[in-house]
Amino acid sequence: MIQVVHTIKEVREAVRQWRKEGLTVGLVPTMGYLHEGHKSLVDRAVKDNDRVVVSVFVNPMQFGPTEDLAQYPRDLAADTRLCEAAGAHLIFNPEPEEMYDEGFCSFVDMNGPTAELCGKSRPIHFRGVCTVVSKLFNIVMPDKAYFGQKDAQQLSVIRRMVKDLNFPIEIVPCPIVREADGLAKSSRNTYLNPQERQAALVLSRAVNLGRQCVENGERDTHKVVEAMKACIEQEPLARIDYVEAVDFQNIQKVDVVKGETLFAMAVYIGKTRLIDNFIVNI
Ligand code: PAF
Repeated sequence: MIQVVHTIKEVREAVRQWRKEGLTVGLVPTMGYLHEGHKSLVDRAVKDNDRVVVSVFVNPMQFGPTEDLAQYPRDLAADTRLCEAAGAHLIFNPEPEEMYDEGFCSFVDMNGPTAELCGKSRPIHFRGVCTVVSKLFNIVMPDKAYFGQKDAQQLSVIRRMVKDLNFPIEIVPCPIVREADGLAKSSRNTYLNPQERQAALVLSRAVNLGRQCVENGERDTHKVVEAMKACIEQEPLARIDYVEAVDFQNIQKVDVVKGETLFAMAVYIGKTRLIDNFIVNI
Protein backbone atom coordinates (compact mmCIF):
# COMPACT_ATOMS: atom_id res chain seq x y z
CA MET A 1 0.00 0.00 0.00
CA ILE A 2 1.30 3.46 -0.90
CA GLN A 3 2.28 5.75 1.95
CA VAL A 4 1.32 9.47 1.89
CA VAL A 5 3.52 11.67 4.07
CA HIS A 6 3.61 15.40 4.65
CA THR A 7 6.93 16.05 6.40
CA ILE A 8 10.56 16.02 5.33
CA LYS A 9 11.38 13.89 8.36
CA GLU A 10 9.02 11.13 7.24
CA VAL A 11 10.51 11.07 3.72
CA ARG A 12 14.02 10.88 5.12
CA GLU A 13 13.06 8.00 7.43
CA ALA A 14 11.49 5.98 4.60
CA VAL A 15 14.45 6.59 2.29
CA ARG A 16 16.98 5.79 5.05
CA GLN A 17 15.25 2.43 5.59
CA TRP A 18 15.27 1.64 1.84
CA ARG A 19 18.93 2.55 1.57
CA LYS A 20 19.75 0.25 4.51
CA GLU A 21 18.11 -2.54 2.48
CA GLY A 22 20.30 -1.62 -0.51
CA LEU A 23 17.35 -0.46 -2.64
CA THR A 24 17.47 2.13 -5.44
CA VAL A 25 15.21 5.18 -5.34
CA GLY A 26 13.53 7.16 -8.14
CA LEU A 27 11.85 10.56 -7.75
CA VAL A 28 9.01 11.98 -9.84
CA PRO A 29 8.54 15.66 -8.92
CA THR A 30 5.01 16.92 -9.69
CA MET A 31 2.53 19.60 -8.75
CA GLY A 32 -0.26 17.01 -8.57
CA TYR A 33 -3.57 16.75 -10.43
CA LEU A 34 -1.86 13.87 -12.15
CA HIS A 35 -2.76 12.73 -15.68
CA GLU A 36 -1.46 10.20 -18.19
CA GLY A 37 1.63 12.32 -18.79
CA HIS A 38 2.63 12.08 -15.13
CA LYS A 39 1.64 8.41 -15.11
CA SER A 40 4.17 7.74 -17.88
CA LEU A 41 6.89 9.25 -15.63
CA VAL A 42 5.80 7.13 -12.65
CA ASP A 43 5.63 4.00 -14.86
CA ARG A 44 9.15 4.63 -16.09
CA ALA A 45 10.41 5.29 -12.55
CA VAL A 46 8.79 2.07 -11.26
CA LYS A 47 10.44 0.14 -14.08
CA ASP A 48 13.90 1.61 -13.32
CA ASN A 49 13.97 1.66 -9.50
CA ASP A 50 13.20 -0.50 -6.45
CA ARG A 51 11.33 2.33 -4.73
CA VAL A 52 9.57 5.40 -6.18
CA VAL A 53 8.74 8.69 -4.46
CA VAL A 54 6.23 11.05 -6.13
CA SER A 55 6.24 14.58 -4.76
CA VAL A 56 2.93 16.42 -5.01
CA PHE A 57 3.53 20.07 -4.21
CA VAL A 58 2.08 23.16 -5.86
CA ASN A 59 5.18 25.26 -5.44
CA PRO A 60 4.19 28.88 -4.71
CA MET A 61 7.71 30.08 -5.50
CA GLN A 62 7.43 29.33 -9.22
CA PHE A 63 4.19 31.30 -9.76
CA GLY A 64 4.26 35.04 -10.56
CA PRO A 65 1.90 37.41 -8.71
CA THR A 66 -0.68 37.42 -11.54
CA GLU A 67 -0.48 33.69 -12.28
CA ASP A 68 -2.82 30.80 -11.43
CA LEU A 69 -1.44 29.61 -8.04
CA ALA A 70 -4.78 29.82 -6.17
CA GLN A 71 -6.70 28.34 -9.09
CA TYR A 72 -4.22 25.51 -9.81
CA PRO A 73 -6.22 22.22 -9.63
CA ARG A 74 -5.60 19.86 -6.70
CA ASP A 75 -6.91 16.33 -5.98
CA LEU A 76 -4.66 14.36 -3.63
CA ALA A 77 -7.10 11.41 -3.37
CA ALA A 78 -7.09 10.90 -7.16
CA ASP A 79 -3.30 11.42 -7.28
CA THR A 80 -2.86 8.77 -4.59
CA ARG A 81 -5.01 6.28 -6.54
CA LEU A 82 -3.03 6.90 -9.74
CA CYS A 83 0.35 6.54 -8.01
CA GLU A 84 -0.72 3.41 -6.12
CA ALA A 85 -2.06 1.76 -9.30
CA ALA A 86 1.20 2.61 -11.09
CA GLY A 87 3.22 0.97 -8.30
CA ALA A 88 4.81 4.01 -6.60
CA HIS A 89 5.71 3.61 -2.93
CA LEU A 90 5.55 7.04 -1.32
CA ILE A 91 3.82 10.36 -1.96
CA PHE A 92 5.43 13.42 -0.42
CA ASN A 93 2.76 16.12 -0.08
CA PRO A 94 4.16 18.95 2.05
CA GLU A 95 2.42 22.18 3.04
CA PRO A 96 4.22 25.32 1.78
CA GLU A 97 5.39 26.02 5.39
CA GLU A 98 7.14 22.63 5.48
CA MET A 99 9.17 23.54 2.39
CA TYR A 100 9.63 27.25 3.13
CA ASP A 101 9.73 27.91 6.84
CA GLU A 102 9.75 31.39 8.34
CA GLY A 103 12.89 33.22 7.37
CA PHE A 104 13.52 31.16 4.24
CA CYS A 105 15.93 33.18 2.09
CA SER A 106 18.13 30.86 -0.01
CA PHE A 107 17.51 30.38 -3.72
CA VAL A 108 18.95 28.44 -6.64
CA ASP A 109 19.13 30.77 -9.63
CA MET A 110 20.54 30.42 -13.13
CA ASN A 111 21.60 32.73 -15.95
CA GLY A 112 21.38 31.88 -19.64
CA PRO A 113 18.99 28.97 -20.22
CA THR A 114 16.30 30.59 -18.08
CA ALA A 115 16.36 33.94 -19.92
CA GLU A 116 14.62 32.84 -23.12
CA LEU A 117 11.22 31.25 -23.93
CA CYS A 118 9.08 30.93 -20.75
CA GLY A 119 11.71 32.88 -18.77
CA LYS A 120 10.76 36.07 -20.66
CA SER A 121 7.09 36.09 -19.69
CA ARG A 122 7.61 34.27 -16.35
CA PRO A 123 10.73 36.00 -14.97
CA ILE A 124 10.75 34.34 -11.52
CA HIS A 125 9.50 30.93 -12.64
CA PHE A 126 12.76 29.04 -13.07
CA ARG A 127 14.27 30.36 -9.85
CA GLY A 128 11.26 28.80 -8.10
CA VAL A 129 11.62 25.56 -10.06
CA CYS A 130 15.38 25.25 -9.47
CA THR A 131 15.00 26.03 -5.77
CA VAL A 132 12.21 23.53 -5.12
CA VAL A 133 13.77 20.79 -7.26
CA SER A 134 17.11 21.26 -5.43
CA LYS A 135 15.27 20.94 -2.13
CA LEU A 136 13.45 17.80 -3.30
CA PHE A 137 16.77 16.33 -4.47
CA ASN A 138 18.31 17.06 -1.05
CA ILE A 139 15.31 15.64 0.80
CA VAL A 140 14.86 12.43 -1.21
CA MET A 141 18.42 11.98 -2.52
CA PRO A 142 17.20 9.77 -5.40
CA ASP A 143 19.37 7.85 -7.85
CA LYS A 144 17.22 9.05 -10.75
CA ALA A 145 14.64 11.79 -11.29
CA TYR A 146 12.04 11.93 -14.04
CA PHE A 147 10.96 14.99 -16.06
CA GLY A 148 8.62 15.29 -19.03
CA GLN A 149 9.74 16.72 -22.35
CA LYS A 150 6.56 18.77 -22.51
CA ASP A 151 8.35 21.22 -20.20
CA ALA A 152 11.40 21.08 -22.44
CA GLN A 153 13.02 24.25 -21.14
CA GLN A 154 12.55 23.02 -17.56
CA LEU A 155 14.17 19.70 -18.52
CA SER A 156 17.17 21.48 -20.05
CA VAL A 157 17.46 23.84 -17.05
CA ILE A 158 17.34 20.97 -14.54
CA ARG A 159 19.99 19.03 -16.47
CA ARG A 160 22.24 22.09 -16.42
CA MET A 161 21.61 22.65 -12.71
CA VAL A 162 22.44 19.01 -11.88
CA LYS A 163 25.68 19.33 -13.84
CA ASP A 164 26.63 22.74 -12.41
CA LEU A 165 25.85 21.84 -8.78
CA ASN A 166 27.14 18.24 -8.93
CA PHE A 167 23.95 16.52 -7.83
CA PRO A 168 24.74 12.77 -8.10
CA ILE A 169 21.39 12.16 -9.80
CA GLU A 170 20.55 10.91 -13.28
CA ILE A 171 17.90 13.01 -15.01
CA VAL A 172 15.64 10.81 -17.13
CA PRO A 173 13.69 12.64 -19.86
CA CYS A 174 10.28 11.21 -20.81
CA PRO A 175 8.37 11.87 -24.06
CA ILE A 176 5.29 14.10 -24.34
CA VAL A 177 1.99 12.25 -23.85
CA ARG A 178 -0.89 13.51 -26.01
CA GLU A 179 -4.67 13.13 -26.09
CA ALA A 180 -6.00 11.07 -29.01
CA ASP A 181 -6.58 14.29 -30.98
CA GLY A 182 -3.03 15.56 -30.40
CA LEU A 183 -3.39 18.02 -27.49
CA ALA A 184 -0.43 17.60 -25.11
CA LYS A 185 -1.65 16.41 -21.69
CA SER A 186 -1.52 19.14 -19.07
CA SER A 187 -3.20 19.81 -15.74
CA ARG A 188 -4.05 23.26 -17.15
CA ASN A 189 -6.20 21.70 -19.93
CA THR A 190 -8.95 21.54 -17.27
CA TYR A 191 -9.25 25.35 -17.49
CA LEU A 192 -10.46 25.11 -21.12
CA ASN A 193 -14.17 25.32 -21.98
CA PRO A 194 -15.34 23.07 -24.87
CA GLN A 195 -14.80 25.76 -27.51
CA GLU A 196 -11.31 26.54 -26.16
CA ARG A 197 -10.50 22.83 -25.91
CA GLN A 198 -11.17 22.59 -29.67
CA ALA A 199 -9.16 25.76 -30.38
CA ALA A 200 -6.22 24.38 -28.34
CA LEU A 201 -5.60 21.80 -31.06
CA VAL A 202 -3.86 24.57 -32.98
CA LEU A 203 -0.75 23.96 -30.81
CA SER A 204 -0.27 20.35 -31.90
CA ARG A 205 -1.18 21.33 -35.49
CA ALA A 206 1.66 23.88 -35.39
CA VAL A 207 4.01 21.27 -33.91
CA ASN A 208 3.16 18.82 -36.70
CA LEU A 209 3.57 21.50 -39.34
CA GLY A 210 6.93 22.65 -37.96
CA ARG A 211 8.21 19.09 -37.75
CA GLN A 212 7.04 18.46 -41.32
CA CYS A 213 8.91 21.56 -42.56
CA VAL A 214 12.15 20.26 -41.01
CA GLU A 215 11.54 16.73 -42.33
CA ASN A 216 11.02 18.25 -45.78
CA GLY A 217 14.51 19.75 -45.57
CA GLU A 218 13.96 23.29 -44.23
CA ARG A 219 16.98 24.32 -42.13
CA ASP A 220 16.22 28.02 -41.66
CA THR A 221 14.64 28.14 -38.19
CA HIS A 222 12.97 31.50 -38.94
CA LYS A 223 11.05 29.99 -41.85
CA VAL A 224 9.87 27.07 -39.71
CA VAL A 225 8.84 29.44 -36.91
CA GLU A 226 7.01 31.74 -39.37
CA ALA A 227 5.05 28.77 -40.76
CA MET A 228 4.11 27.70 -37.20
CA LYS A 229 3.06 31.24 -36.26
CA ALA A 230 0.93 31.59 -39.41
CA CYS A 231 -0.81 28.32 -38.51
CA ILE A 232 -1.55 29.51 -34.94
CA GLU A 233 -2.75 32.93 -36.11
CA GLN A 234 -5.54 31.24 -38.08
CA GLU A 235 -7.20 30.32 -34.78
CA PRO A 236 -9.21 33.32 -33.48
CA LEU A 237 -9.07 32.18 -29.81
CA ALA A 238 -5.27 31.83 -29.86
CA ARG A 239 -2.79 34.54 -28.86
CA ILE A 240 0.92 33.78 -29.26
CA ASP A 241 3.23 34.41 -26.30
CA TYR A 242 6.21 33.02 -28.20
CA VAL A 243 7.21 30.55 -30.89
CA GLU A 244 10.99 30.14 -31.03
CA ALA A 245 13.82 27.85 -32.06
CA VAL A 246 16.68 27.32 -29.61
CA ASP A 247 19.58 24.98 -28.99
CA PHE A 248 18.13 22.39 -26.59
CA GLN A 249 21.37 22.25 -24.58
CA ASN A 250 21.68 25.92 -23.69
CA ILE A 251 18.29 27.40 -24.71
CA GLN A 252 19.92 30.09 -26.85
CA LYS A 253 18.28 31.18 -30.13
CA VAL A 254 19.55 29.52 -33.31
CA ASP A 255 19.15 30.54 -36.97
CA VAL A 256 19.89 27.11 -38.43
CA VAL A 257 18.52 23.68 -37.52
CA LYS A 258 21.62 21.85 -36.32
CA GLY A 259 22.26 19.40 -33.46
CA GLU A 260 19.44 19.17 -30.93
CA THR A 261 17.10 22.01 -31.88
CA LEU A 262 14.04 22.76 -29.76
CA PHE A 263 11.04 24.44 -31.38
CA ALA A 264 8.95 25.65 -28.46
CA MET A 265 5.79 27.69 -28.10
CA ALA A 266 3.53 29.21 -25.48
CA VAL A 267 0.08 30.21 -26.67
CA TYR A 268 -2.87 31.67 -24.80
CA ILE A 269 -6.17 30.01 -25.58
CA GLY A 270 -8.59 32.47 -24.00
CA LYS A 271 -7.00 33.09 -20.58
CA THR A 272 -5.18 29.74 -20.43
CA ARG A 273 -1.51 29.67 -21.34
CA LEU A 274 -0.48 26.36 -22.93
CA ILE A 275 2.94 25.14 -24.06
CA ASP A 276 4.03 22.56 -26.60
CA ASN A 277 7.20 21.75 -28.51
CA PHE A 278 9.21 19.35 -30.61
CA ILE A 279 12.91 18.57 -30.71
CA VAL A 280 14.83 17.56 -33.82
CA ASN A 281 18.34 16.18 -33.83
CA ILE A 282 20.24 16.74 -37.07
O1 PAF B 1 6.90 20.39 -13.78
C1 PAF B 1 6.37 20.59 -12.68
O2 PAF B 1 5.28 20.10 -12.38
C2 PAF B 1 7.06 21.51 -11.68
O3 PAF B 1 7.68 22.58 -12.31
C3 PAF B 1 8.04 20.77 -10.77
C4 PAF B 1 9.20 20.19 -11.54
C5 PAF B 1 7.31 19.68 -10.01
C6 PAF B 1 8.61 21.74 -9.72
O4 PAF B 1 7.62 22.30 -8.94
